[in-house]
Amino acid sequence: MLATKTQFTCQECGASQPKWHGRCPSCSAWASMVEEASRPAPKRGGQVAGQVRKPQPLADVEATRHDRLPTGIDEFDRVLGGGLVPGSLILIGGDPGIGKSTLTTMALARLAARHPVLLVCGEESPAQVRMRAERIGGAGRIGVIAETDLDLVCQTLVQEQPAVAVVDSVQTLWANDLASAPGSVAQVREAAGRLLRVAKEHAITVILVGHVTKDGAVAGPRVLEHLVDAVLMFEGDRTGDLRVLRAAKNRFGSTAEIGVFEMTSTGLAPVGDPSALLGRGDLGGPGSVVACAVEGTRPLLLEVQALVAPSDLQMPRRLATGVDRNRLAMILAVLQRHAELPLGSADVFVNVAGGVDIHEPAADLAIALAIASAHRGLPTGPLVAFGEIGLTGRLRSVPQAERRLREAQRLGLSHALAPAGTLGVPGTSLRTAQTVAEAIAMTLPVPR
Ligand code: TYD
Ligand code: MG
Repeated sequence: MLATKTQFTCQECGASQPKWHGRCPSCSAWASMVEEASRPAPKRGGQVAGQVRKPQPLADVEATRHDRLPTGIDEFDRVLGGGLVPGSLILIGGDPGIGKSTLTTMALARLAARHPVLLVCGEESPAQVRMRAERIGGAGRIGVIAETDLDLVCQTLVQEQPAVAVVDSVQTLWANDLASAPGSVAQVREAAGRLLRVAKEHAITVILVGHVTKDGAVAGPRVLEHLVDAVLMFEGDRTGDLRVLRAAKNRFGSTAEIGVFEMTSTGLAPVGDPSALLGRGDLGGPGSVVACAVEGTRPLLLEVQALVAPSDLQMPRRLATGVDRNRLAMILAVLQRHAELPLGSADVFVNVAGGVDIHEPAADLAIALAIASAHRGLPTGPLVAFGEIGLTGRLRSVPQAERRLREAQRLGLSHALAPAGTLGVPGTSLRTAQTVAEAIAMTLPVPR
């Protein structure tokens, strides 16, 4: 075998060095050097010089339209954009224990009825995998290998030619020409790069499972995002049952769709009607307001809960679960400045029930009302609210208001609050407001 060489490449400026440096000698970025296998540049000798090609109209380019492989799990297929595309490389990320192995095993079990499939397990023994597969029912036809050597995994794929292969997890793979430990950025990138080539050359769909956190810490999605065709994040509250699958990137579909599952004793059960999960708690009590987000093609009702308590800290706590921290900071500032809510010395906690994240600014109004309601200790009553809050405290209307109202109505919520200009639907009592202060005055009148 050739003596293998590695080099260290700066992730900021791309400069390569034979040795590792804590600070890149070329651009002075700290801790940006990552080990990589160095490959000799492809030889050009003896080759006929490349010919200049004539551009061809895009309409004449032959587009091979592969049939997608539906996994048979509707919620999963929806997020993929209608099933797996042959030859694509997909990364499924999420915290440990969230259900990545369960979801991929379920998908393989269904695909195995019609296609050859392979499960590369680096984390668990085939016996453990079998126990899980039996729990979720029917997995007899999944081919399993317990292997972590990247070369051998690639060779097995080429030899077995499965239609779909799952690598659980990419962090366990190990290329023997790199000195760094499995799971390091260098190893994970090398593994994804080589599997990508195998996937494209042999039209094998490869699903990589990765233990990654949302901020994309060590070897997280950031490192692989540009390589893979799709990044799906599995999120949810591990202590609860609800799980949400969301595409952070998808070359073959929309990133707006979400898949909702419930973890049961026999695997992940699709939740076709996620809004119906609402109402398990005490809706409309102080600090509780219902938001309606539109995720892809589906409206989704979610309960926003807030708690406001006097703080004994110099820097009061602001904790958000399911809501972006910066968005919360902005809403709090608007509430203080434009609605005269004295929150400066209060701890504020905001939580979206069920462990689902809200990404839409349309949820601003529900968050603001939940905080105001918690602060005053007054209930709004069961109320669905949507609207984006601007820095001036004005409410901006949001798209698809009618669908949001109809969804609320379907679930029996007939009171709604929305920005001025929103049109109501029959059977719903809709109130509208120009500003966040007006919205608070309407729903939470100060008792005399
Ligand atoms: P797992 O898929 O192993 O998570 P990951 O691969 O993301 O680390 O599943 C994790 C949890 O799910 C585990 O704590 C047990 C639970 N679980 C169920 O509740 N029901 C089931 O049918 C299965 C297979 C797992
Ligand atoms: Mg696992």
